[in-house]
Amino acid sequence: MPHAIAVSPNGEKLGVSGPFLVQWKGCGPAEKLDAAARRFQSDVDRQTGLRLQAGAPVPLRIGCLQTENAADRGEAYRLEVRADGVAIEADGSTGALRALATLRQLVGLSPDGIRIPLQRIDDKPRFAWRGVLLDPARNFISIETLKRQIDAMERVKLNTLHLHLSDDQGFRVESRRYPRLNAGGPFYTQADIRELIGYAEARGVRIIPEFDVPGHSRAMVEAYPEIGVLVQSPIPGLKAAALNPASPAMWRFLEGLFAEMAALFPDPHFHAGGDEVSAGVWKDAPGMTEWIAREGLADQHAVESWFARRAGRILKAQGKTMIGWEEMAAAGVDKNVVVQAWQTSNAMANATAGNHPTLMSAGYYLNLLMPAEYHYALDPAQTSGAGLTPDHAATLRKLSPLLAAMVADAQVDRPRAPLTPEQERNLLGGEMALWGEIATDELIDHQLWPRAAALAERFWSNRSVRDIDDMYARLTVVSAQLSASGVRNVSARTRMIERLAPADPEALATLLEVAGPVRNMAHDHRIRAMLAGKTIVQSLNAPADAAPVDSLVARRFTAEAKRLAAGERALAPQLAARLAIWQANDTRFKALAKGHPMLEEALPTSAQLAALAKLGLDAVAALDAGEPLAASRAAEGRALLETLRKQEAASWRPFDPFISQQPPADLILKIGPGLEVLLEAAVRAGG
Ligand code: ACM
Repeated sequence: MPHAIAVSPNGEKLGVSGPFLVQWKGCGPAEKLDAAARRFQSDVDRQTGLRLQAGAPVPLRIGCLQTENAADRGEAYRLEVRADGVAIEADGSTGALRALATLRQLVGLSPDGIRIPLQRIDDKPRFAWRGVLLDPARNFISIETLKRQIDAMERVKLNTLHLHLSDDQGFRVESRRYPRLNAGGPFYTQADIRELIGYAEARGVRIIPEFDVPGHSRAMVEAYPEIGVLVQSPIPGLKAAALNPASPAMWRFLEGLFAEMAALFPDPHFHAGGDEVSAGVWKDAPGMTEWIAREGLADQHAVESWFARRAGRILKAQGKTMIGWEEMAAAGVDKNVVVQAWQTSNAMANATAGNHPTLMSAGYYLNLLMPAEYHYALDPAQTSGAGLTPDHAATLRKLSPLLAAMVADAQVDRPRAPLTPEQERNLLGGEMALWGEIATDELIDHQLWPRAAALAERFWSNRSVRDIDDMYARLTVVSAQLSASGVRNVSARTRMIERLAPADPEALATLLEVAGPVRNMAHDHRIRAMLAGKTIVQSLNAPADAAPVDSLVARRFTAEAKRLAAGERALAPQLAARLAIWQANDTRFKALAKGHPMLEEALPTSAQLAALAKLGLDAVAALDAGEPLAASRAAEGRALLETLRKQEAASWRPFDPFISQQPPADLILKIGPGLEVLLEAAVRAGG
């Protein structure tokens, strides 16, 4: 994962009983390839647990053509596993890294001695830009955690890390020109940033900085009040900030700040934000009335556009290509400005039609805690699909004036003609985003992985690779491999569970392995508090934070339930054993939770799991005996499953969390689909 373009296996296997002996030719900086070879070998050791130092070395020959083909950024490669060793041919050194990423996964499949199927793999990326956005502005992320994500990105061939480095909550890079920016919280020193960039570059990952202007800028405005405005937002309790384009001092500031940051970050791209400027924020800004009249600007939209064009000119003069959120597409900025669509598929279609190089992020917001399959099913090039349906938007708007104000037209997505070939050429690729509101440093690994690996495939592999069951089967392996190589996708959850339930972590782990958190920011309790005019602090240390976004255990249960329902009777005992554990867990969980409010909140979830498990046991027994499940029991079962479906639906779509009651402890049980299969098969049993 990502699935390669072409794989030709030949049936035999290469046995590996010693270290890889890496020889390379023509691949650019020696240190880069030497370091990559050492990393590769150390990952092989960690993934297999084998001691290979003493065995016969296995030749691993790498040759680079150094064509650095512009279309694939030198990432294409050929990997041949032969009886006498492994041979890699790549366009460039990055292609060699991608080939090693493939080989890592192949090696990790054989725990009892390495045997790699002989094969030839020809591979190259569908999209040149395959990114991840992380947001240290909202919750600071340590350099160590960022490096771990970069390690994982290399393993699934992601190549761009976009860091959202400034927002209302803070400015996260040391500024020597404007040191007051760093007075309000943690930040990366310039040395940290240089080190991180070098670390990423060695792994074929570029770092794109984002400094969001003119909105999302409260931290800047609080540090330097003369550059902007700070006003009460339409949402109670929230202050909205924006840089003031009527202020010459602001433009001097911005030019100086961008120059400092442009020099620090070597990538030719520089993200200047441009999203979500609060309506009316400039109404009373000093000098605004005269300036607007002088420039002949009709409305706020025109002011934003003016801002975007000037920001683009500043960056261009500093040798950078500006990236901006989709709001910039309509601003009349240069055609080489990269537009990042974030609300709808339609926005991507508009930006590509406007001849902008375009990045697709709509539908790829991992912070919404949707399952991998949801994101995976959306193709970056599809012109509709991500966003609110017109019906949903209309329903929401009728519910309250606040929702009417929050649900903007830009969030509504409508059917469109497919991209023209020219538009397709403008689509650079996709970027998933893990916004930081509920992603603390501790939670990053498990909120990102393994789901990000599924999206890495969506951005790398052919559009036709889209079988969900096959994806999950491979994702399960990749998740384990990532964990074995040091990513904390599993261990962070385990640690949280041990912290929450030191007396009996297993009882909590058993519950959480088949549960997941509510979605679409429903777990961000600060939003609801804010809408009620209150400010609260939420510790992200609850059972819902430690639950997997995608329960791979529940997936496996569903897969086995389908096989049993299809007649594979031998699976009955193992399914029954699993169900019996879930049923029995409730007694243990009750004892564990007593006197611990955070765990007590999940008592109903635990009882619900027991009831569902009992239903499953009855269904398996009926199937095993070949006698139909009693109609009354089936009716009870369907009612239980209906409750579960309602709990799932309550946060399935954006905004629904604001109008729907959420399940206890913000937890949704994930075994519904498997149980439904068992129940309906049991109703027909013996028939
Ligand atoms: C965004 O999510 N405001 C780009």
